[in-house]
Amino acid sequence: MKVSFAFLYYTGFEMKKQEGSMRWRKKWWQSSVVYQVYPRSFADSNGDGMGDIPGITGKIKYLKELGVDVLWICPVYQSPQDDNGYDISDYRAIYPEFGTMQDMEELITKCQDNGIKIIMDLVVNHTSDEHPWFIEAKKSTENPYRDYYIWRKGKDGQPPNDLKSNFGGSAWEYSPETGEYYLHFYSKKQPDLNWENPKLRQEIYDMMNWWLDQGIAGFRMDVIDLIGKIPDQKIKENGPMLHSYLQEMNEATFGSRDSMTVGECWGATPEIGRMYTDPKRKELSMIFQFEQIQLDKKAGGQRWDLKPLDLPDLKRVFSKWQTELEGHGWNSLFWNNHDLPRIVSRWGNDGAYRVLSAKMLATLLHGMKGTPYIYQGEEIGMTNVPFRTIEEFPDIETQNIYKERLKAGFTKEETMHAIRAKARDNARTPMQWNSTENAGFTEGIPWYRVNPNYTKINVEQARKDPDSIFYHYQKLISLRKENDIMVYGTYYLLFPEDEDLYIYTRTLGTEQWLIVCNFHEKTRTFRCKQSGQVLLSNYKDTPALDKMTELRPYEAVIYRMERKDVSREVHAQDHSSDFEFDIELE
Ligand code: NOJ
Repeated sequence: MKVSFAFLYYTGFEMKKQEGSMRWRKKWWQSSVVYQVYPRSFADSNGDGMGDIPGITGKIKYLKELGVDVLWICPVYQSPQDDNGYDISDYRAIYPEFGTMQDMEELITKCQDNGIKIIMDLVVNHTSDEHPWFIEAKKSTENPYRDYYIWRKGKDGQPPNDLKSNFGGSAWEYSPETGEYYLHFYSKKQPDLNWENPKLRQEIYDMMNWWLDQGIAGFRMDVIDLIGKIPDQKIKENGPMLHSYLQEMNEATFGSRDSMTVGECWGATPEIGRMYTDPKRKELSMIFQFEQIQLDKKAGGQRWDLKPLDLPDLKRVFSKWQTELEGHGWNSLFWNNHDLPRIVSRWGNDGAYRVLSAKMLATLLHGMKGTPYIYQGEEIGMTNVPFRTIEEFPDIETQNIYKERLKAGFTKEETMHAIRAKARDNARTPMQWNSTENAGFTEGIPWYRVNPNYTKINVEQARKDPDSIFYHYQKLISLRKENDIMVYGTYYLLFPEDEDLYIYTRTLGTEQWLIVCNFHEKTRTFRCKQSGQVLLSNYKDTPALDKMTELRPYEAVIYRMERKDVSREVHAQDHSSDFEFDIELE
């Protein structure tokens, strides 16, 4: 099969118009790269087997070497740790096993000294049931804190309705003190807050300002699209008041500061994404949307109902977001986080092509328009765990889902197969620093087993090897720092239906880049008549664009197009002009 794609240059005032509107929108977080730290598994400074804040401080030099400019720190607040810190019992105190408030201040200051900003996890859809507000609220229906949470009477001895918790089972828990049920979209130790209550909202804004005053640069907002819920109508995500609450929050807290915010929004469409991120609406800087992340589950099923990824689907989803937010908002770019399996095991190849495929995935993602996020260990190509039994997957969600799936009639084999592929435990094993015992993560007994491949996959090894994944990420980050086109260039997809190759352009003013990624192991013929210079590749001997004849397994290249007439502006999406280049694929 031979397909070709004509790509056309265009001179137009449209681009000038776009650039003009873009200029007033430039923000520091658009050219930043964020690194996500899961403190519990990052670095243990005191040998108790649990990562901690001084452990993070001790790795600032490493993060600086990688080149990232923002750290997102998962929750370190006081918490019973039912959901590893996403169940907060005191927003203004630190969980002692992670350190002290003084440790936090030191981390913030040292990061600032090194030009690194910190964003904290803001978990305000729910608290812990051990938060003083809830302890008060459950005492009586008259308690002043009662209305901080969501209470309903049961129906015929049953919960008020059939709303489900995201961790399995009913979203309602009976509270014997008052004979009513409270709502919890996560574990029963995570009661949902009632955002309809203005007093509660004000308490949250005060707390946010208190943290901003400590010198943090903003927030990652946990399941923020749930705060407008209307449980009686079974509305969970995207409730009618959601955006009003966010506008109010923006005005009361970070809006007047030079901050960055990113909302976790599982239920967002690009249209909703524009509502959150259009600067005119004064809500958030960007959101995490999860459409692409859900492409390997069966339609209508849960994420445990596995289905292979179809590359044209991935292109369709990414391109939709790239295009629809262009000029109206801002995208985040991520493959991994603490809730997702490791990308190299999921959509790359964690066997013979681990290094090549991890670099390909990094190139594909960082080449797009948006703020990239790197999850700890991604930069060295950490993989899913090879564990077999359910006992080896301690996470609360995994444990609940296991029971639920068996009850629903799935076999143990099927259930464990899905858990191995998708459980968030995969992302939570300790960071692999070196090949000494426990991967250099702790001198004690780690809270969770180290992935046994740490003897080969670790930071020390990666830093010694000039061809490592680590240096590929480092180059991607420095390319972004040096080239406005990587931050602001318009994205345009070529060959949407090709099943192996992901090819797109970025265009800014008179400059154009071509990003070519072979997503699979199959070698593919590739020819292009235009000349282009290799800016970055995961193979050492990738030729210039006009000399290219084939794309090898997982080959990924960023080309800078060489243009004869450099005075002309290029427009990514317009096909109505005089100048074209041809790509032929077989
Ligand atoms: C999303 C967080 O990322 C996840 O880890 C947590 O369990 C839930 N929200 C509940 O807070």
